[in-house]
Amino acid sequence: MNETPKPQRCCDGREPSAGRHADLRIHGEASGPSGSAGTPKSARAGDDTARGAAGDRRGFLFGAGAALMGIGGLLAAIPIVGTLFAPARRGNPMRWTDLGPVDQFPAGTTRLATFTSPNAAPTDGETARDACWVRSLGDDRFQVFYVNCAHLGCPVRWFEQSRLFMCPCHGGVYYEDGSRASGPPPRGLFTHQWRVTNGRLEILAGLLPGLEEKT
Ligand code: FES
Repeated sequence: MNETPKPQRCCDGREPSAGRHADLRIHGEASGPSGSAGTPKSARAGDDTARGAAGDRRGFLFGAGAALMGIGGLLAAIPIVGTLFAPARRGNPMRWTDLGPVDQFPAGTTRLATFTSPNAAPTDGETARDACWVRSLGDDRFQVFYVNCAHLGCPVRWFEQSRLFMCPCHGGVYYEDGSRASGPPPRGLFTHQWRVTNGRLEILAGLLPGLEEKT
């Protein structure tokens, strides 16, 4: 007994039309393993093109990332290099600085003198002003002391009656020749180098001294 073959049904139970068969065939081709013997050449060429485009994109992104990292590294290095080479660029910061005519400092007196820091920038304003104590020994001989205490740098004051320099911060005391008398300072007052030029007293100024200084 011959049985009439039943028409095949699609997954949704409907009988496939010619158009639906075509759809199903194409669907099966696309989902099969790539490069299999049953894959048409056009599909393999499409896969290769897609892989090539993805590789190009990865290469571009890698190159762009490396370039950005390089630029970032250069920008970060600018302040470090500037800091390292700044002292060499500035040179010696100490400069001969005018304090005024020597007759402003009579023999036997100790007076405060003010001056503008030789390294001042135009925007420093009043902070560029500095001071020192000038002890006049007569005959154009002087001792010129930094105003800063040798302990932590507070400005010291001269007391004529006791003939002592005293520091208001922690009670450091210095004799009139600048040597340490008492208190926490580990040494005497720092001194400026000085010279007399054309009747004017000049000192070397520009940097605050550190404890490694001998004078
Ligand atoms: S800063 Fe002068 S005694 Fe401390």
